[in-house]
Amino acid sequence: MRLNILITASEAVPFAKEGGLADVVGALPKYLEARGHDVRVVMPRYYKVDRERYQLRQLPGVLVVPMGIIGNMYCGVYQGIMPGSNVPIYFLEHEDFYGRDSLYERDNQGYLDNDNRFIFLSKASLELCKMLQFPPDLVHAHDWHTAAVPVLMNTWYRHDHHLAQAASLLTIHNMQHQGSFYEGAMDVLGIGWHHFTFLELEMDNQVNLLKGGIYHATMLNTVSEGYAREIQTAEYGWGLEGVVRQRSETLSGILNGVDYHEWNPEEDRFLPANFSARDMGGKGVCKRELQRSLGLPEREDVPLIGMVSRLVKQKGIDVLAQALPRLLELDIQLVLLGAGEPWAHFYFGGVAADRPDRFACRIGYDNSLAHRIEAGCDFFLMPSAFEPCGLNQMYSMRYGTLPIVRATGGLDDSVQNFNAAERTGDGFKFWNPDAGALFDTVGWAVHTWYHDPEGIAALRQNAMAKRFTWENAAEKYERLYLEGIKRKLGEEKLRQAMAERTPAREKASREKNEGYQPQA
Ligand code: ADP
Ligand code: GLC
Repeated sequence: MRLNILITASEAVPFAKEGGLADVVGALPKYLEARGHDVRVVMPRYYKVDRERYQLRQLPGVLVVPMGIIGNMYCGVYQGIMPGSNVPIYFLEHEDFYGRDSLYERDNQGYLDNDNRFIFLSKASLELCKMLQFPPDLVHAHDWHTAAVPVLMNTWYRHDHHLAQAASLLTIHNMQHQGSFYEGAMDVLGIGWHHFTFLELEMDNQVNLLKGGIYHATMLNTVSEGYAREIQTAEYGWGLEGVVRQRSETLSGILNGVDYHEWNPEEDRFLPANFSARDMGGKGVCKRELQRSLGLPEREDVPLIGMVSRLVKQKGIDVLAQALPRLLELDIQLVLLGAGEPWAHFYFGGVAADRPDRFACRIGYDNSLAHRIEAGCDFFLMPSAFEPCGLNQMYSMRYGTLPIVRATGGLDDSVQNFNAAERTGDGFKFWNPDAGALFDTVGWAVHTWYHDPEGIAALRQNAMAKRFTWENAAEKYERLYLEGIKRKLGEEKLRQAMAERTPAREKASREKNEGYQPQA
């Protein structure tokens, strides 16, 4: 069965990326297309999305976007193709909103008009379906940035010819960021103040877009089963646990996949030497080269621990900072790559200057170094306070770099703890989010490395054999889409709708890459 799916999000690899959300939006559509679906993606055209490099072409006409009290706003639409597929991706061209260097903030301060920027994205995504004559069976929104989409589908667009029949899915990649704004944003949504209630869109006297999305979406999911359970508790719900619990019957978890074309030690182009589970020789070369490039002593006989992360509290960097002085008393080496909160830049930079023999720190975003850390290290540390899915632990396993993780969300779901007696597992876990637990578990891993090399070799083989594929995740998303469509239409109507699919509609979808034809 061929479904029409619209995916709307604020970032996608390779066009614009702040975090793992972009990896997901960059990958999932390709795998859905491979399963035979007509998938389209829409996102803003930020400055950094280069029109020439990606051969974007402008569609004729402009999109008219009704922005409530602001009135109609307009934007151009560019069309490109998701690399490695035929999936069309549409970019909204709005100089005022998206012609900025960074996606969400400047100097760690969210842009003041983020409400308008992302309500615009949500509305324009739905208007685009009309412009393209593309009636989606389901619209798939991601995080607070497009959480207004399910709200608008149930209100403003509920009688719309192209959208009335469409179901919606909201994927929550992160509960902490909710899109919380001054209540006046209700007038921009333009759906009426009766939706500004504690049940729906109101939270602490503000408009909370994520809350609205959770209330309105036909289906909800998060990026691991563990996180789907966690966000129903006060510890992980960031105040929205109540509304999530109310919708728990529609909520599930699907672990993200890994792009194994990009993350594969056998053919990784960023590495000085390649290696595989059968021939691990190249991993030693990677370790030496990494130590040399970071100015660490080139020693084979010391365990090297890596970390690549946004430097924010979510990732447990405060706990790492507390544990660091004690950790550096051990005979280990540690490398940290990341950017984020200013205190962390100063603190970790300072420690690196003090202990150049044991600790290296690179502030910034560096994909090549991220690959070399994955390949060259013995262990990979993720002490997250919460982690909806987490990608680096999965990359690490493919490179035989054993994850040391706090057992939360996707980290708990994807890593199996080491069992020394049975030689099972593929990493090391701790539960308490504190410096003591972190220190003890790194100590355990390092002790194993020094005293049980066979145990480590067995763990490496286990880790390298493990796969988190997008094929698998896409199949689960397909099932979720069908469930959503069934709930929206009812079983009987779903059968009718699918039977009524005219050849014309199939033909139209085949011709999708011809672009938008203005109507007579
Ligand atoms: P989150 O989305 O919460 O940041 P994920 O683990 O899902 O966490 O995804 C993070 C992604 O960003 C990974 O692909 C990781 O390699 C990458 N990344 C994060 N920080 C850096 C950095 N400083 N340099 C290079 N890549 C980074
Ligand atoms: C969020 C989460 C991260 C997850 C990513 C992609 O940024 O913090 O855990 O892997 O989204 O789903």
